[in-house]
Amino acid sequence: MTTERIDLDSVAAQLAELRDRALLEIADAVDPTALDRVETAYLGKKGSIKSLLRHMPALPAEDRPRLGSAANAAQDAVDAAVSERRVRLESLALEVRLAQEATDATLPGRPLPRGSLHPSLEINREIARIFGQFGFTVYEGPEVETDELNFQALNIPDDHPARDLWDTMYVANEAPEGQRYLLRTHTSPTQIRVMEQQKPPIRALMPGRCFRYEAVDASHQFEFFQVEGLMIDEGTTLAHLRGLLDQFVAALFGSPRPTRFRPGYYPFTEPSVAFDVQCLICDGAGCPACGRSGWMTILGAGMVHPNVLARGGLDPERYQGFAFGMGPERIAMLRHDIHDIRTFLDNDLRFLEQFR
Ligand code: DAH
Repeated sequence: MTTERIDLDSVAAQLAELRDRALLEIADAVDPTALDRVETAYLGKKGSIKSLLRHMPALPAEDRPRLGSAANAAQDAVDAAVSERRVRLESLALEVRLAQEATDATLPGRPLPRGSLHPSLEINREIARIFGQFGFTVYEGPEVETDELNFQALNIPDDHPARDLWDTMYVANEAPEGQRYLLRTHTSPTQIRVMEQQKPPIRALMPGRCFRYEAVDASHQFEFFQVEGLMIDEGTTLAHLRGLLDQFVAALFGSPRPTRFRPGYYPFTEPSVAFDVQCLICDGAGCPACGRSGWMTILGAGMVHPNVLARGGLDPERYQGFAFGMGPERIAMLRHDIHDIRTFLDNDLRFLEQFR
């Protein structure tokens, strides 16, 4: 039997060389897969350290245990280096991830643009707040209304010349026999809806969008808000209306101002009045803004017509009431010195951002 002539020293030298090469490759492994590859190459079942043990039989018997322990020591050293490198690679990967996800908390924040109420809504809320203090509750009616409620129930029959006051937009939808739908021209039809729903005492505030077939200019828009008011009880008079409106003006403009009633005409009130406030710009001296009259009209009003009360299901012999209707955009224009009603619908941020 021929045996390779081999001695312990040369095998030990090969072992040491293998171990050192393994350690270098471990240190160079840049990711877990590369590290796994090195590990199998040196420590696997067919790994190069194990394969050195094939020399075992060629060694003198007393040297065999020493080769065994030298091989174990080399394996342990490589094994330890692999574990250490694995931990290091994991913490490097974590560092990279953290660096990628990092937020610099010292950077100044980006401002979040804050919205604000549209001036039309703002004035509507302000008006509702003031009348709320007098016990008025807000009601809303539909924007698409029947001819019946928009006109007839308000004492404006089909052939009544007062219809000419309204430039009306009719809706082509199919309607019940004898009816027509339209975009309401005013909030007054909601008066009837409230009367049908509720018995006196009634204190109702009815804000909402209205629509007219208008020739649009700086003071006329085809879509606008109105705020309607209605108070019905026994013994209600025009003096109550005047007192309420004077309080309203004081709250709205910050201090009491001279006001006046002028005779007016609306089919649904009798008597009817226009309610004027002393001009906010010239304090009554007369200026272009008030047509040199010293007064500005801010709403129409009157005592609810008996026909309208009856149509609302109330006994006109027992109940009286007053009603008023105003254009909140017009009031906002006075308050904020806005000269063109079209700006309310333009959606121009340069206009809207002034009301933050
Ligand atoms: N509806 C009227 C309009 O659109 C405004 C108005 C006037 C409402 C007098 C009223 C009122 O309730 O009493 O011009």
